[in-house]
Amino acid sequence: MATYRTLDDLECRGKRVLLRADLNVPLKDGKVADDSRITRLAPTITELAEKGAKVAVLSHFGRPKGKRDPAFSLRPVLPALERALSGENVLFVEDCVGEKARRVVAALKPGEVALLENLRFHPGEEANSPEFARELAALGDLYVNDAFSASHRAHASIALLPRLLPAAAGRLMEAELRALESALEAPQRPVLALVGGAKVSTKLDLLGNLVGKVNILALCGAMANTILFAEGFDVGRSLCEREMAESAGRLLALARERNCRLILPEDAVVAAELSPSAPTRTVAIASVPSDAMILDIGPRTVEGIRAALREARTLLWNGPLGAFETPPFDRGTAAVAREVATLTQAGKMRSIAGGGDTLAALAAAGCLEGLSYVSTAGGAFLEWLEGRELPGVKALEPIDRDHSGTSRFP
Ligand code: 3PG
Repeated sequence: MATYRTLDDLECRGKRVLLRADLNVPLKDGKVADDSRITRLAPTITELAEKGAKVAVLSHFGRPKGKRDPAFSLRPVLPALERALSGENVLFVEDCVGEKARRVVAALKPGEVALLENLRFHPGEEANSPEFARELAALGDLYVNDAFSASHRAHASIALLPRLLPAAAGRLMEAELRALESALEAPQRPVLALVGGAKVSTKLDLLGNLVGKVNILALCGAMANTILFAEGFDVGRSLCEREMAESAGRLLALARERNCRLILPEDAVVAAELSPSAPTRTVAIASVPSDAMILDIGPRTVEGIRAALREARTLLWNGPLGAFETPPFDRGTAAVAREVATLTQAGKMRSIAGGGDTLAALAAAGCLEGLSYVSTAGGAFLEWLEGRELPGVKALEPIDRDHSGTSRFP
């Protein structure tokens, strides 16, 4: 397992700590619509403040393309951040670099917190510019990365800044890495990966990596249609990437070669259109009518997945199993989510899920709390599972043991 410095290794009393956070949260009518990333980040801020650090929070927000744009200001996030910090006052600074930002951060008293404006208002952030990284470094003495969910981006505040200041992982980053490392690197077996979502093309690398590591791979959602099509099934008018059939076929061959057991839909809930009022039918997967669309897994498939879950000791889940945003096509995903939560709570499996749609589906099923670990990351979670090196994680390792002590990432 990799090693990192953590907050335990930083002497931060009276120091200016640049905390790279991911406050890229959904807004609705100018207010934070889902504060989970903020509440998961709060313990790191609180710990730094309690240790007497002057905390400057850095984050991106949306994709303003290197220009100052009020629509992408972090200011609307401020009240939710203060709430997550039990009402502590957080200063807002209108730029993340420059003389004013330097003065405000330096003038913070130990334990005080400032939120700096969107890093992506400067083109140097996404361009991974050394000059921009140096401007950021001028604000602080120490650097902490608690933005696992943005650590797949080779951007200045993620990949370069930790090389300019003594750097450590924050508590959320630690938790994310520990959960993923334990699930993939030393998991209790059998390991079951449950992968759904719309497209196989966006997940080929992920699936290729998983078949070599997991014991059972269950493929559902619209991406399974492409696999079924590659296996010779008629999928009617379902979402299907017909041009990916050859790659899908290679993946199936690889799974067989690696002794990875595949679970594919045996039956499906079909309708003529994706609408809550459309009449539905449950059909065997070999009998999908040519004018119908597959919109959810059927009861036999749900049973097959539940049986595999009861066998598994570790579960990795990414992607909904049907068109869950449009009931009744959420039933398959919800039934599987309930089984996962029940088994996890009974201590029979360790379950880890990630990805925006997956979290929304779990939340809709009321099962979010039932899993062992739910990642705050979407893209970064997938890239980690694909086996890729994340620039932000790479930049935190290895520990210089002679210099920094002995902490080992658990
Ligand atoms: C996310 O929401 O997944 C992260 O904040 C990364 O955002 P990005 O895809 O705009 O880089």
